[in-house]
Amino acid sequence: MEIKTIGVIGAGTMGSGIAQVAAEAGYKVIMRDIEEQFVQRGLAALEKNLARAVDKGKKSREEADALRNRVSGTTGLEDLGAADFIIEAIIENMGLKKELYANLDEICKEEAILASNTSGLSITEMASATGRPQNIVGMHFFNPVPVMKLVEVIRGFDTSDETFEQTMELARKMGKEPIAVNEAPLFAVNRILVPMINEAAFVLMEGVATAEDIDRGMMLGANHPIGPLALADLVGLDVLLAVMETLYHETGDSKYRPCPLMRKLVRAGHYGRKTGRGFYTYG
Ligand code: 3HC
Repeated sequence: MEIKTIGVIGAGTMGSGIAQVAAEAGYKVIMRDIEEQFVQRGLAALEKNLARAVDKGKKSREEADALRNRVSGTTGLEDLGAADFIIEAIIENMGLKKELYANLDEICKEEAILASNTSGLSITEMASATGRPQNIVGMHFFNPVPVMKLVEVIRGFDTSDETFEQTMELARKMGKEPIAVNEAPLFAVNRILVPMINEAAFVLMEGVATAEDIDRGMMLGANHPIGPLALADLVGLDVLLAVMETLYHETGDSKYRPCPLMRKLVRAGHYGRKTGRGFYTYG
């Protein structure tokens, strides 16, 4: 199947970034969210990135305009019927995802592939909501999507070789470097990265070091581009907590229990950069 149109579901940080890299690769993109204001916010984020690229001389105004024109926004799920490949980037809630996949199964072309950008939920379970489990796959991008080279391509229990290979190929066409992963809670990278961030939260909570020193320590001592707590604020503490809970519940292993400080911050509504406060406060 030739992929011409990509549907992106969810116009948040990840969805708008995915829409951008898909359009950059020349695909037509339909970005869908449940409310018009979310669609507009996603499009505005994309436009801001394009304006920055033009200012820096990385793209001509014509290129940026052409790219922008390849992306349309919608609140209508039925519009995804025109897409050859769908990338879902909605919130990390299995119930909502399964409901969405069941609806997409009705709406989408028979041969369309449905890929989830989940940070670690079961692809197999999402696939079970459809009559096409062979066409369901994980396609996990990293934040910020336009910058990070990695995509994890995740094989669910019934994912076909053809679906898997097409997804690897699409990731390459989108300028990314895919790695192959078999489904397991949090896949490969988050399984390693997220407990590290959680541990940093424990180190802070226990008063072992300040947030600034923890982050400086990991930057200077382990060559990380930013420290774990600053990274947590970038990714979103709400997202990280949900991901950590998945690892904890799926494995039943107490070593993965989420740090109470992280839980407290999320309960207070301090999700990181997107709310102006997390481990740090943003102006
Ligand atoms: N969108 C587009 N471009 C962006 C961007 C964004 N949101 N944020 C930064 N950039 C670009 C900048 O424009 C700049 O481009 P240039 O080199 O062409 O000028 C470049 O990235 C570097 O940005 P800055 O100079 O502003 O800042 P930094 O040097 O600190 O880089 C960073 C920012 C790339 C985010 C860097 O801090 C970094 O690599 N951080 C680690 C990111 C990471 O680990 N991500 C994974 C998170 S885990 C995840 O996503 C999985 C999920 O499932 C939880």
